[in-house]
Amino acid sequence: CGIVGYIGQQEATAILLEGLRELEYRGYDSAGIALLEGSGLRRFRAVGKLDHLVDRVGDYTTSGAVAGIGHTRWATHGKPTEANAHPHGLTHSQVVHNGIIENHLTLRDQVPGDFLSQTDTEVIVHLFEAFLAQQAPGEEAALKAFRATLNALHGAYAILLVTETRPGEIFFARQGSPLQLSMTDSGCHFASSDAAMVGRCEQAVYLEDGQWGVAGVDALQLFDDSGQAVDPQPKPLPATSAAAQKEGFRYFMEKETYEQSAVVSDILTGRIGKGGIRLDELPADWLKRFSSITLCACGTSYHAALTGAYLLERLAKVPTRVEIASEFRYREPILDPTGLFAVISQSGETADTLEALKLASAQGLETLALCNVDNSSIVRAASHTVLLRAGIEKGVASTKAFTAQVMALWLLAIYWGQARSELSEETLARELDALRRVRVAVKVQPRVHDRLHRLSKRYLHGHGFFFIGRDIFYPLALEGALKLKEISYLHAEGYPAGEMKHGPIALADAELFTVALMPRSCLHEKIKSNVEELSARDATIVAITTEYFELADDIIQIRAYDHPMLEFFEMMVVLQLLALEIAVRLGNDVDMPRNLAKSVTVE
Ligand code: G6P
Repeated sequence: CGIVGYIGQQEATAILLEGLRELEYRGYDSAGIALLEGSGLRRFRAVGKLDHLVDRVGDYTTSGAVAGIGHTRWATHGKPTEANAHPHGLTHSQVVHNGIIENHLTLRDQVPGDFLSQTDTEVIVHLFEAFLAQQAPGEEAALKAFRATLNALHGAYAILLVTETRPGEIFFARQGSPLQLSMTDSGCHFASSDAAMVGRCEQAVYLEDGQWGVAGVDALQLFDDSGQAVDPQPKPLPATSAAAQKEGFRYFMEKETYEQSAVVSDILTGRIGKGGIRLDELPADWLKRFSSITLCACGTSYHAALTGAYLLERLAKVPTRVEIASEFRYREPILDPTGLFAVISQSGETADTLEALKLASAQGLETLALCNVDNSSIVRAASHTVLLRAGIEKGVASTKAFTAQVMALWLLAIYWGQARSELSEETLARELDALRRVRVAVKVQPRVHDRLHRLSKRYLHGHGFFFIGRDIFYPLALEGALKLKEISYLHAEGYPAGEMKHGPIALADAELFTVALMPRSCLHEKIKSNVEELSARDATIVAITTEYFELADDIIQIRAYDHPMLEFFEMMVVLQLLALEIAVRLGNDVDMPRNLAKSVTVE
């Protein structure tokens, strides 16, 4: 989602809509603006792309002092309808919000008044007005009510709020979701990222988590979470909006690789607790009726499905089968009538996956979608959906959506394992502990990225790459090879390490590059022997491992973990960046590789 705000004398609809235009790539389910003028509050909202909102606003313009807020939405709670579009309002106030309020259902019961949307956001404005009504009238009343509101919220947020009791001001807060402001000669601007400010502002104050306050046209009060005043520290903004959208990264794919830690936090929000995993989007006990699961997908999503199969069988003890959608459709599959049919898709529009889903539904099976785009064709066709919450992915080569897919499958495996009483207390505790640590494992380490940058120059030729792994590291090897193929156009194959000796080892020579995924926590000795076999035939070995390995020509060292999934995620980042660095050196367009499309709506 994207947020903008403006306080000043200039015409505000143009400023807000232009800002939203720059942020539209972050969400196009709906958009809206609220304007607080001398004549009162006015709001415009529309479903779909920003152009619909522009039509709604028509030739309306503001004159004189105004405080305005705007939002472009990417649905996480509630369908993309006008009622769910931001801003959300009550009698005197309007609010826009990015992030997820985890305790919104509990809070809803604590405030009077009817709710008009299914969003987690609407409760913010209800709370604010309820707290405001309790304050003694005075200068500070709204600020105190805003503080009390923030104290009640659990979760992640960037918030802008306007209220008729304080015209010419915007209340703001940041906790786990970016927000920045800029005081200029023409007024005060807010945005959730640089792109909306570039060209209008020269510098910005990037709020830290826990910071909040109130701004007027030329006055700013900024506080930390303990209520202490903070001195704003402006920093210069980038020069162009294209650069600003990439937030300092060379490519969207690179930015998205770096975003994975935040994606992991988002996907876990409200879904992990002391008692285990909650997936509130699925009816209680729904999974218990199924005796097996089929996972069906294409491309990277298929690799997530393959990984998921290991997790579902191991943790939930549910027989799992994995299908490539384009094959599944035409091979007259025999489906388990008591099984669940699940599809995995970033876009929700992949034609083969959608048709496979329809085929299973037509046979009377219940279906589940793990999908990143709410209201997409796949979400609409499935019985139930778990949203991936990865945010818009722009790079054609999928990165953060893959992370979210694997996380969602892992959550599903634990959740189902709990429902079937298949998980011991120790196993559950171990899985939850590992889930909580993924955020750190997927964080890009500058040392590793720098090493990959330097090492990539040695791997621009040769007659091909083999990525090899065992267990969950086999689907990861497939994904590593796919990443490299997609953006470098070099030949790469993923292979089960133990299978190399049954054919592919015939290719081994110094010009065959083998990327070996050698985790410490999973079949370490086995993969070591497989690599030895290759090394003995003079293959060039790039080992991704936790320790020195004498047979490797190059080692990319990862941290040691006691859980294979943490090694999985750390290696995944290495593979994504290895592909990226090789492709950059070869001069390719990383975000739009030749012959590929982000969403393939033809079979
Ligand atoms: C295209 C993309 C791939 C993606 C695949 C499946 O081929 O280039 O990156 O993995 O479609 O897409 P989906 O949106 O269904 O996950």
